[in-house]
Amino acid sequence: MIFLLKNRRMRRVWAALLLLLFCASGWSQGTTFKLAEDPDLPYVIAHCTACHSGSLITQNRMTRDGWLKTIRWMQKEQGLWPLGEHEERVLNYLERHYFPQTSGRRKAIAPHLMPKQNP
Ligand code: HEC
Repeated sequence: MIFLLKNRRMRRVWAALLLLLFCASGWSQGTTFKLAEDPDLPYVIAHCTACHSGSLITQNRMTRDGWLKTIRWMQKEQGLWPLGEHEERVLNYLERHYFPQTSGRRKAIAPHLMPKQNP
């Protein structure tokens, strides 16, 4: 294996292959997420996918207030521009589709509905 790295030409080939692999993996990462379809989606794409992948949105779930805080943080620290009248639409979208999911478990059965315990 080592002899493959000793050869200068071979090393270039390896470097090119690694670079290709790296780019391909980054590319596929960027395409595996899908933002929820919605009439307000174009606003979210316009304002929220310029600096980072939309997967940062799909990987997160927050309350409306949580999203607003994240937006304010990006505006303060990361150079996100004011969203103006689009802010309402963007927040509506985020709240509609990326709200914290309530637990999938059903509520506990009320005690009076449970079978009587054997003594
Ligand atoms: C001007 C650039 C910019 C724009 C536009 C932008 N963001 Fe961000 N955002 C950032 C940066 C920088 C980070 C930090 C990335 C990191 O930690 O790797 C970030 C992080 C995030 C995170 C992760 C926060 C966390 O706590 O981990 C979320 C969620 C997010 N952005 C959502 C949004 C949404 C929603 C919008 C549209 C309203 C948006 N971003 C638009 C720059 C931007």
